[in-house]
Amino acid sequence: MDSILVTGAVGQIGSELVPALRERFGAESVVATDIRLPAAATPAPIEHLDCTKPEQIQEMVRRYRVKTIYHLAAMLSAVAEEKPQAAWNLNMGGLYNVLEAARQYRCAVFFPSSIGAFGPTTPREGAPQDTVQRPTTMYGVTKVAGEIVADYYAHRFGVDVRGLRLPGLISYAAPPGGGTTDYAVEIFYHAIRYRRYTCFLRPDTALDMMYMPDAIRAILRLMAADPAQLRHRNAFNVTAMNFDPQRLAAEIRTHIPDFAIDYEVDPARQAIADSWPRSVDDGAARAEWGWAPGYDIAAMTKDMLEKLGEKLRPTR
Ligand SMILES: NC(=O)c1ccc[n+]([C@@H]2O[C@H](COP(=O)([O-])OP(=O)(O)OC[C@H]3O[C@@H](n4cnc5c(N)ncnc54)[C@H](O)[C@@H]3O)[C@@H](O)[C@H]2O)c1
Repeated sequence: MDSILVTGAVGQIGSELVPALRERFGAESVVATDIRLPAAATPAPIEHLDCTKPEQIQEMVRRYRVKTIYHLAAMLSAVAEEKPQAAWNLNMGGLYNVLEAARQYRCAVFFPSSIGAFGPTTPREGAPQDTVQRPTTMYGVTKVAGEIVADYYAHRFGVDVRGLRLPGLISYAAPPGGGTTDYAVEIFYHAIRYRRYTCFLRPDTALDMMYMPDAIRAILRLMAADPAQLRHRNAFNVTAMNFDPQRLAAEIRTHIPDFAIDYEVDPARQAIADSWPRSVDDGAARAEWGWAPGYDIAAMTKDMLEKLGEKLRPTR
């Protein structure tokens, strides 16, 4: 039986993408892998896999007759800025190893890029699909280089590699992995537990965001799209909503009226956020494979508070 391999499967995206893939393609055909141990209850198949080790990826692809790889293992923006050398090794080395395995064993690949692939010289509002990309973070450098090498493998070797430039993702299943937009997840935990939150970004730091169910839908839809319709294939801008911390706090206050926010700006993460565009234009994704988000800030906030409230409720 042909299989799907997911790398970095224990992370924020993987913990929701794996169940979605298993529901669609059958539990047995989706192999979840990570360098970390998953929660004890995670159903098989689940394997240890270090993406910086090419032989481990190739062995896994052979053993499970893998036909598609969702490559999620990476170091996120804030952590990558603290450890740029390690970030280069994981983000570039891991992707290169995955693309090489895909070339040799004829697999399709999904590679998530990010709004972090843009930089200060990109247009600030509505960053176009095709535009200047000179990021000033190591995370961004690895994402642009990743987009380009993915295109190279598609054109040079015919590897069907597709990808999205994801905005900040909001979810309740797994905690975020050290990105600049993590505040937009933490704020919900703090609102429910303490009714207050100290934010590490300035109140007016507007960025594009997306609720995880939309991100999962976008990934599945892009991977199922008719290749004849895809002019870009890789690195599609996608977005669902745009807000800054003060706007998100106001939305939470419509449900928790005594919620309070204050600010202790972290210069490192603020500098990363300031280097990114405030919003992106996702017209190419809408035109080429029918992208349309389902959740705006109001629908996302209501659902997050309900689902996370349920999750954090003490059990007797
Ligand atoms: N979460 C977001 O807001 C967001 C936004 C844009 C793009 N992305 C991209 O999506 C992808 C997944 O992001 P995420 O939020 O799930 O990240 P995450 O940090 O939550 O998860 C990454 C996973 O990779 C694993 N990992 C680390 N080193 C590894 C190695 N050597 N081999 C195998 N696995 C290893 C980690 O254990 C972790 O479980 C990344 O490429 C990220 O850049 C995420």
